[in-house]
Amino acid sequence: MHMKKHSILENIHIDKLIFGGKGLAVAPDGRKIIVAWGAVPGSIVNLRILKARTNYFEAQIVDTVKKSPLEQDLPAHFQVYGGCKWLPISYPEQLRIKEEQVREAFHYVEKYWDGSKWAKTSEIMEMESSHEWIPQTEAPSIVLRKPPVFHPIVPSPEIYGYRNKVEFSFGKYISERENIRDEFRFGFHAQGQFDRIIDCDFCVLADDEINAIFREMNTYSRASWLPTYDPKINVGFWRHFVVRKAHFTGEIMLILSVNHEFEGYSRKHEGDILVFAGKLMEQFPHIASIYLLYNSWRADIVTGEAILLKGKPTITENLLGKSFEINPKSFFQTNSLGAEKLYTVVRDLMKTNGGILLDLYAGTGTIGILLADRFEHVYSVELSPEASKDGIKNALKNEVTNITFINEKTEKFLPKFLSENSDIKNTSLIIDPPRDGMHPDALPDILKFNAKEIIYVSCNPATLARDLDYILANSDYRLTDITPVDMFPHTHHIETVVRLEKNA
Ligand SMILES: C[S@@+](CC[C@H](N)C(=O)[O-])C[C@H]1O[C@@H](n2cnc3c(N)ncnc32)[C@H](O)[C@@H]1O
Repeated sequence: MHMKKHSILENIHIDKLIFGGKGLAVAPDGRKIIVAWGAVPGSIVNLRILKARTNYFEAQIVDTVKKSPLEQDLPAHFQVYGGCKWLPISYPEQLRIKEEQVREAFHYVEKYWDGSKWAKTSEIMEMESSHEWIPQTEAPSIVLRKPPVFHPIVPSPEIYGYRNKVEFSFGKYISERENIRDEFRFGFHAQGQFDRIIDCDFCVLADDEINAIFREMNTYSRASWLPTYDPKINVGFWRHFVVRKAHFTGEIMLILSVNHEFEGYSRKHEGDILVFAGKLMEQFPHIASIYLLYNSWRADIVTGEAILLKGKPTITENLLGKSFEINPKSFFQTNSLGAEKLYTVVRDLMKTNGGILLDLYAGTGTIGILLADRFEHVYSVELSPEASKDGIKNALKNEVTNITFINEKTEKFLPKFLSENSDIKNTSLIIDPPRDGMHPDALPDILKFNAKEIIYVSCNPATLARDLDYILANSDYRLTDITPVDMFPHTHHIETVVRLEKNA
């Protein structure tokens, strides 16, 4: 059988899920198949080939021939949208898969404790992350160290309704092939499609109050007769609806993003929205803040000028005894209970008391603020000016005075800081970069601190293993602990916290 783009592969067994949430299977000719999304290990499916490469295929599921024994029966009102693809898989099985993926990524650095000559990379991770994965061509001269402790994955305390922020989108669903022409949709983007929206009436990752507010918005916006925004022609009004709910204080913020330049939008509509906002606040007393976000940009992102319609400018969330202010544009971990688990792992792994703490890729400074009482001084280094500004406010709010916020790229900050503080001793490091991991320029500088301890928090095991390979190859650090943390049940996302110790 000649297998090319659009060919159908029948009765294919999904063997496993790999990092990024994709499925893995084997084609009749022995080539690997990466299945775009919705694959459940153990199921038998028919696939359509999307791309045929020399050594593997990319494919999507056409239909399921036989359900996997791992698949659970869901309540009728649970629906799988793009954000919760793993919903059909039982939670214990999700945890097992995530833990396995982290273990697999660490095969890459096992050579530092088991002495294997070549890095045991997972071929799939190489395929998957080829742009970010740099396999070794030669084994470096390896100094063997004691193996790390691989701790069991820390589950999320809540597996449904755990998100403190949900972003709903307005739009359309127009498809000649499917014979659908629906001009008003409100829910989530169809998988991988910027211009098609799937209606939703209940998001399992959001709590009941968020869902109830969403339903009110749905009824109101449909009755308004104002059209949804169409990014293809830059016309229409309704764009996004973001609901943030601080788990521990219960305070809610609503952000309604609209194209204020839509020609059918008038002062009357503005007045109507204000009245609706007032009614919502009466109906849901936890709503503390309602914003209108004026956004006429074409790009499908929640951005623009935020105008406070009702209530106060910020809401407050508490984490581990500290309180944090959230404004419409603040970054904040989206699972508050899960964030407490993550930060507790970081706090427990960090053994040092005293000296300087560098909190690199600090966001709003949360980790630095939580650990500040253990150190003489904390430097919180973050690229985004808004996040650094929020960090300053949060430090003041919590009366943390031994912290300095530096709004700069880590790779630019490190050489400057090292040259200005050549006598610096007793430094500890927290590193919490985005998916791509650390900038290659930052890695050599990290080692110049001779820090007793480094805690690396990562949302991508592949780039974590890559950066650890550099650190272990070029220093005598030992990896002492690896702890995966699940903050995002029903999605493929996974956090990993590791601890490195000098001369351990
Ligand atoms: C995973 S978040 C870490 C958030 C924070 N540690 C927390 O727990 O809330 C990564 C952060 O790194 C920032 N960032 C991205 N590239 C950076 C760089 N080159 N230097 C410094 N910060 C960067 C992003 O703006 C983001 O806030």
